[in-house]
Amino acid sequence: MNALFQQLMGWVDDRFPATKLYKEHLSEYYAPKNFNFWYFFGSLALLVLVIQIVTGIFLVMHYKPDASLNAAGIPVAFASVEYIMRDVPGGWIIRYMHSTGASAFFIVVYLHMFRGLLYGSYRKPRELVWLFGVAIFLCLMAEAFFGYLLPWGQMSGWGAQVIVNLFEAIPVIGKDLSILIRGDFVVGDATLNRFFSFHVIAIPLVLIGLVAAHIIALHEVGSNNPDGVEIKKHKDANGIPLDGIPFHPYYTVKDIFGAVVFMIVFSAIVFFWPTGGGYFLEFNNFVPYDALKTPPHIAPVWYFTPFYSILRATTSDFLPFLGILVAAIGGLTFATARLSIVKMLAAAVTVVLLAGFYFLDAKVWGVVLMGGSVLLFALLPWLDQSPVKSIRYKGGLFKSILAVWVVCFLILGYLGVLPPTKLGTIVSQICSILYLAFFGFMPWYSRMDKTQAEPERVTF
Ligand code: HEM
Repeated sequence: MNALFQQLMGWVDDRFPATKLYKEHLSEYYAPKNFNFWYFFGSLALLVLVIQIVTGIFLVMHYKPDASLNAAGIPVAFASVEYIMRDVPGGWIIRYMHSTGASAFFIVVYLHMFRGLLYGSYRKPRELVWLFGVAIFLCLMAEAFFGYLLPWGQMSGWGAQVIVNLFEAIPVIGKDLSILIRGDFVVGDATLNRFFSFHVIAIPLVLIGLVAAHIIALHEVGSNNPDGVEIKKHKDANGIPLDGIPFHPYYTVKDIFGAVVFMIVFSAIVFFWPTGGGYFLEFNNFVPYDALKTPPHIAPVWYFTPFYSILRATTSDFLPFLGILVAAIGGLTFATARLSIVKMLAAAVTVVLLAGFYFLDAKVWGVVLMGGSVLLFALLPWLDQSPVKSIRYKGGLFKSILAVWVVCFLILGYLGVLPPTKLGTIVSQICSILYLAFFGFMPWYSRMDKTQAEPERVTF
């Protein structure tokens, strides 16, 4: 049997590098031996991606992207989801796995990104791993947004209406752009069809490509670890890192354990709490979309709300505070930059932004800030100037600022699901400024921070 298998593999290897790939990415991929809890979430993100693709394939067999009304006066798309839930054998579990999977995806990816922040995994030489990650995050947001329209409930339609309308704020092309996205003057059948097309094929294709690039880039440079030290610096006579262990079997076993624990929690939610108290599936979305009946409170799903809060916080009386923040960051860059080109650039960008705050509507800046607050993650590899990577060796200053930023992110997320109030707006404005300042002032506080020396080898 063994000889037959070897013969078969020899035949395959002559035609496709199966064994070479297996060794490079599993049995001879040496990962640091000190991975901890935070290193579960990459493989869990892969698991959720597979769950979403497989359940998605089965949902598409029965779902109909059609906004017209059936004989009972119910939109066909909405009725097809009800049909999946009630009549298709096992349809309910497939649908709930997919809808709960969307929230699970964001929980896992947020924790995965936070690990990157904790251990400085975005720093050299992993900048591209991180940039592919940010691109994945943007795709994931687009995927979730397009998917949420498909059940054609009240929140689907009205949520899409609110978000697509935001594009109208873009000067000159805004109105035409929003019509192009909708395919109509209001969210309708054309919108449903194009969102369906993006959700089931365009974005998943890009997402899978980006995930492949993410892992190839990671395996090129090697994994970071909770100490943030490079294990490739110390190798044995055979060129194997002294602090590395083969990914397979050591980490495949660890990841299978993580996957089992995750599936227990995930199943418990799918079976007993699929709506997540209205956070995973909003209650208003069990009502068919009616373009003539606006729900009293329209809020995006929880995973968008930190960024949505920043959008809502950007009122006209908030712009002067943004101006102060921009002037402070621009002034600091001008005063401390060594290259004169950087000084000129900082001055020019600051003047343009300040003029923009004065002349352009707050609505435009809300949209810019909402997008910018996600894109800022892409700059982290260059903003963080600390001599050490891991939080373990960073000083009190960096740790406290990171803690404040996390609290602000959570508060923004919480306020984003609530209807706006006067106090809520003020709190979200303060949190938005602190959120942006975390990125904006990082080059200076990361240098000022009193760090400890990194160890030469990994620790336990
Ligand atoms: C579909 C979503 C994603 C999947 C399937 C995925 C998958 C993975 C896997 C399997 C690993 C290696 C195992 C590990 O280190 O945990 C990894 C590492 C990494 N990922 Fe992701 N990832 C995703 C999204 C992201 C996002 C959104 C970011 C950041 C914006 C990101 C940043 C990183 C970084 C920096 C590493 C290297 C970490 C280290 O070596 O310490 N990933 N990813």
